[in-house]
Amino acid sequence: MKQSEFKKRRKQLMQRIGKGNIALIASASPRIRNRDVHYPFRQDSDFYYLTGFNEPDALAVFIPGREQGEYILFCREYDETKALWEGAHAGLEGATRHYHADDSFPIDDLDEILPGMLENKSKVYYPLGRNFDLDHSLLEWINHIRSQSRTGVVAPGELVSLEHILHEMRLFKSRDELNLMRRAAEVSANAHVKVMQKCKPGMYEYQIEAELLHCFVQEGLRSVAYPSIVAGGKNACVLHYTENSDKLKSGDLLLIDAGAECDHYAADITRTFPVSGRFTEPQKQLYQLVLDAQAAAIEQIRPGLPWHLAHEAAVEVLTEGLVSLGLLKGKVKKLIKEEKYKQFFMHRIGHWLGMDVHDVGDYKVDGEWRLLEPGMVLTVEPGLYIPADCQTVDKKWRGIGIRIEDDILVTEDGFECLTAAVPKTIADIEALMQAA
Ligand code: GLY
Ligand code: MN
Ligand code: MN
Repeated sequence: MKQSEFKKRRKQLMQRIGKGNIALIASASPRIRNRDVHYPFRQDSDFYYLTGFNEPDALAVFIPGREQGEYILFCREYDETKALWEGAHAGLEGATRHYHADDSFPIDDLDEILPGMLENKSKVYYPLGRNFDLDHSLLEWINHIRSQSRTGVVAPGELVSLEHILHEMRLFKSRDELNLMRRAAEVSANAHVKVMQKCKPGMYEYQIEAELLHCFVQEGLRSVAYPSIVAGGKNACVLHYTENSDKLKSGDLLLIDAGAECDHYAADITRTFPVSGRFTEPQKQLYQLVLDAQAAAIEQIRPGLPWHLAHEAAVEVLTEGLVSLGLLKGKVKKLIKEEKYKQFFMHRIGHWLGMDVHDVGDYKVDGEWRLLEPGMVLTVEPGLYIPADCQTVDKKWRGIGIRIEDDILVTEDGFECLTAAVPKTIADIEALMQAA
């Protein structure tokens, strides 16, 4: 991502905060995996969105109209020993030179410097509740200013959620963001195609996972956007199955929900296909139903339509289909009203997608489902999950789990599917697998 993009975002944020106010946002902290080993560092999405700065122990401060500089970055000072052991870090000079902070200070000096910055500001825009140490410090700084009030300084009177402004900005993807999302989608789609071709009965779920990771990392995308779900047979009925430890059996379906992250932007793709390369009759019937539900939902993705129509379209197709296949009994309207479909389709149709796989942004505005607008990206992912021990349906349906998930960009005149390169019709999947 170009530095100019981060600069543009900061400018936009500054305008929304307004003069006389201040915003604070902290980096992610390193997390210990075990003893002295850390999890790979992943920057906080909000912090990265505004700074492009990929180090822990940092705090970005935004003070619109401040004469000495509006954007201040507190970070680690350059340390030669640290550089030797852990590699390059920006230091105070890098923070201004490479990351275009107007001013930079050591993170260790926060307590001395930040109270002065908070003085005489009306509102503090801050994501309360995400970093308890910082929450505590902030309240202490504010109390400290209050205790000085006889000197004429005024403590901020309002703490305002920063997320509200920031997440509304993040909901609408710029061209540069979409380029990264397209890349994440492309690499992830290629990986899905590859494992469809490689899958054979007798392989283990983790071997498929290994192949997916291989495809991602070979392309330089070293992080998954979320832990890959590789679920053979009835494991697919566990929505967040990530054990990925079982042997794949001929006659079973395999559900794979996997996506790579490209420079902090996610892809999120699910495909379900037969381990042996050929669907059985019952699998075909349920699969086609999920595919039809997805098509009906995607038809409801265009600017001006409220977000829940896609969900309702999928629910209608699924319920009708479940009745005609005999898995549900009764009148479609009544079954929908009583949410009987939820035994087999228990999640929503999708979610916003962006830097976080379940991305930020309000789904409702003033209590109403919000209208879709160009630049929003969302997933459309209907599914059917028939528990292996479901006594109310014929045996042939039991233990089948199917989800089909694509990443959809809302465009000026409709939508664009970012993940269309992975086959999903029965004929296309079978043809690809037979040819392998
Ligand atoms: N991969 C998580 C989800 O589909 O929501
Ligand atoms: Mn999803
Ligand atoms: Mn998914």
